[in-house]
Amino acid sequence: MADSPQPPVRDRLGRPLGDLRISVTDRCNFRCTYCMPRAVFGRGYRFLPRAELLDFDEIVEVAAACVELGVHTIRLTGGEPLLRPGLETLVARLGALHGLADLALTTNGALLDRERAQALRAAGLRRVTVSLDALDDPTFAAMNDAGCPVSRVLDAIAACHAAGLVPVKVNMVVRRGVNEAAILPMAEHFRNTGDVLRFIEYMDVGTTNGWRREDVVGAQEILERVGARWPVEPVAPTRPGEVARRYRYLDGAGEIGVIASITQPFCTGCTRARLTPEGRLFTCLFASEGLDVRGLLRGGADRSGLRRALAQRWAQRSDRYSQLREELHQATGRVEMFRMGG
Ligand code: GTP
Ligand code: 5AD
Ligand code: SF4
Ligand code: SF4
Repeated sequence: MADSPQPPVRDRLGRPLGDLRISVTDRCNFRCTYCMPRAVFGRGYRFLPRAELLDFDEIVEVAAACVELGVHTIRLTGGEPLLRPGLETLVARLGALHGLADLALTTNGALLDRERAQALRAAGLRRVTVSLDALDDPTFAAMNDAGCPVSRVLDAIAACHAAGLVPVKVNMVVRRGVNEAAILPMAEHFRNTGDVLRFIEYMDVGTTNGWRREDVVGAQEILERVGARWPVEPVAPTRPGEVARRYRYLDGAGEIGVIASITQPFCTGCTRARLTPEGRLFTCLFASEGLDVRGLLRGGADRSGLRRALAQRWAQRSDRYSQLREELHQATGRVEMFRMGG
């Protein structure tokens, strides 16, 4: 490590590199209106051909270099990560990286049956986050546009429990006029389960979801609605830079979270880098330019060359998009979220 900075490498705002979100595929079996609207991502849409994806050796190499630079947490995302063949093998290889403290997966749950959950746990996965936007089929269908029944996702959460992948975090993106009526039923359902429901403010990611500020239901409003029924109090963050603000029910029924990227940006503590399926490294969810890591790897870069390039990119970073959103809102050319890995 003599040729690169001591970990963790820090960016221009003093933020350490701590998390790596790896998107393992740009494909998804859902067409969530806020992420991959069917009108854009329909039959004719061309997803990445296999040869363009990083293979597992390449992903592990990047991950290992990032761990050497300070990454302690890796999260696998997509698209839908369970669509990537052999994901358990990748989990096992990442889980074996010396210095990695946490390995998590964000999934829509549609393919997560008991066998798969057991296999992932056995391979070394520590935590699962399942996305679920409503508890009734019509509202859920209006969000995911793929006809997946709610029961299938609830079964996936049960499969995580059976495999010991607990607590499960449940992500609910809230859209004004579409699923806001599901806030209280979702809260009620996940009370006393040990799982942590997180309400996510609808974000202006990518360029295709037609985001409008008036479609956002702010975290404050969400908390007021839930709190009016079951009072809550804030809980201190478990670590700096946590994405979700946490709250606990005063009656002891558990915890919820709000992810308020729009109304309460959390860039100050942002320690996240993102690797796309085709091997570009982005330092912000809203960035339009990424480092061509695949080019480096396929051009013959060794571990120390890779580490140097990654360290240099992180050191140059000054992203704080959510904080600057109002000024930058005219920006175009952003990469889609399913490609960036959420
Ligand atoms: P935990 O460490 O378990 O809390 O995971 P997480 O909340 O980082 O991961 P998850 O994949 O569940 O993401 C939850 C939501 O937060 C998604 O909508 C993400 O897009 C959003 N999110 C995660 N990281 C960032 C970030 O750095 N910036 C912004 N703006 N949103 C983020
Ligand atoms: N705004 C907020 N959250 C989003 N997600 C996907 N698109 C958006 C968006 N536009 C969420 C998914 C998943 C997580 C990785 O990101 O629902 O839970
Ligand atoms: Fe797929 Fe997740 Fe995007 Fe929905 S939010 S389309 S499940 S990648
Ligand atoms: Fe990090 Fe960019 Fe999200 Fe801010 S907007 S928290 S810098 S990823």
